[in-house]
Amino acid sequence: MGNLSVVGLQWGDEGKGKLVDYLADQFEAVARFNGGSNAGHTVVIGEKKHTFHLVPSGALKGRELLIGAGVALDPAVLREELSLLPDKVRGKMLIDGRCSLVTPFDKELDAVLEQMRGASPIGTTRRGIGPAYAMRALRLSLRVSDLLGDPDSEAASQLYSRLGVDPSGFPRWIEESKRVVAGLVGDVGARVLEIGRRGGSVLFEASQGTLLDLLHGSYPFVTSSHTVVSYVPAGLGIPPSEAGDALGVMKCYTTRVGSGPFPTEIKDATSDQIRSVGHEYGATTGRPRRVGWLDLVALKYAVGLNGVKNVAISKLDVLSEVKEFRVCVSYRHDGSETDNFQRSLGRLHEVEPVYESPFTMHGASYDGGLPVQARKFVDYLEEALGVHVSLVSHGEERLKTIEL
Ligand code: IMP
Ligand code: MG
Repeated sequence: MGNLSVVGLQWGDEGKGKLVDYLADQFEAVARFNGGSNAGHTVVIGEKKHTFHLVPSGALKGRELLIGAGVALDPAVLREELSLLPDKVRGKMLIDGRCSLVTPFDKELDAVLEQMRGASPIGTTRRGIGPAYAMRALRLSLRVSDLLGDPDSEAASQLYSRLGVDPSGFPRWIEESKRVVAGLVGDVGARVLEIGRRGGSVLFEASQGTLLDLLHGSYPFVTSSHTVVSYVPAGLGIPPSEAGDALGVMKCYTTRVGSGPFPTEIKDATSDQIRSVGHEYGATTGRPRRVGWLDLVALKYAVGLNGVKNVAISKLDVLSEVKEFRVCVSYRHDGSETDNFQRSLGRLHEVEPVYESPFTMHGASYDGGLPVQARKFVDYLEEALGVHVSLVSHGEERLKTIEL
């Protein structure tokens, strides 16, 4: 088994956390390479639900936990998250010194910027991730390695002040943050390569989804980092040749949290039903997620961008509760039809989805393994997307997973 990347093919919340936990047995380490504590990855074991924002979802399987250079690290969130986990988890963590830090002032700025956008906010998670990456691009960000010495926060403080955010708490925050990362800082890229040289492998856990990618998603309604497979090596500091294979994760319907275009959004009571059965509330913010039908146009784009040949489908059990079942196969716009998402990207607000209702999933039971309806659905998706469906998830619990 080589290295494997698990990436989201939709707007996030595809069920990556559950699958990373499920797959983690076969790997020595689980590594994050993008995003920050805007992520909410849920792992359910028995009756107990764990939500990870920064700590990789391999924590409950006792894996080594790596946070690569591409992650925006909020020390306060890390401290809180580690305090909820067994003490030994801390001993398994390695954070890359090159990570940018998320400050309390970035969180304030996140809120200020959302206010400035007035009637069309992005609907960020307000975790300060966008401002932290912006500070990085401005060459003003403090990095994790800066906490090993005495960082100069003067220029950053000046900018925060000019933007109307009071940075007077900076020195105290630096001292607190030093304690959080003490003993955990190193070179994550080198660690990944070392594990490989010894014959081990690493699971790379993406956060957010392809359609939220800063470059390739539904800009400006996107996150501020790169969520696609091609960013895995850059976000970790390893050569592309060492990144290994990729598994795309998709939910059997679509959700989106925050604003932005959503062609297959359901506008009637069915969306409430799916939200309620599927517990579609943001794991980070608690916001109700917007719910829509499966969108094959968007999925084909995501499969192509990531070049994934293997896909995991999640939440199939939810469709057992819903009478209706629709799949969007193309978009209509100005009297013509297209299945080219890229071409529609600039006008997603205007496209009209064209649906098929290939068969019903209503009443399907997973008690005896994969039911006939689900097998038909898997065949249909494999044909439509040109992929192999290798995993099916039919419940939040770790064990509700079928390998195909
Ligand atoms: P930000 O990443 O907090 O700046 O938010 C930008 C957009 O990405 C908003 O629409 C968020 O709701 C969305 N977003 C960020 N992280 C996640 C996630 O982990 N799952 C789903 N949506 C996310
Ligand atoms: Mg999530």
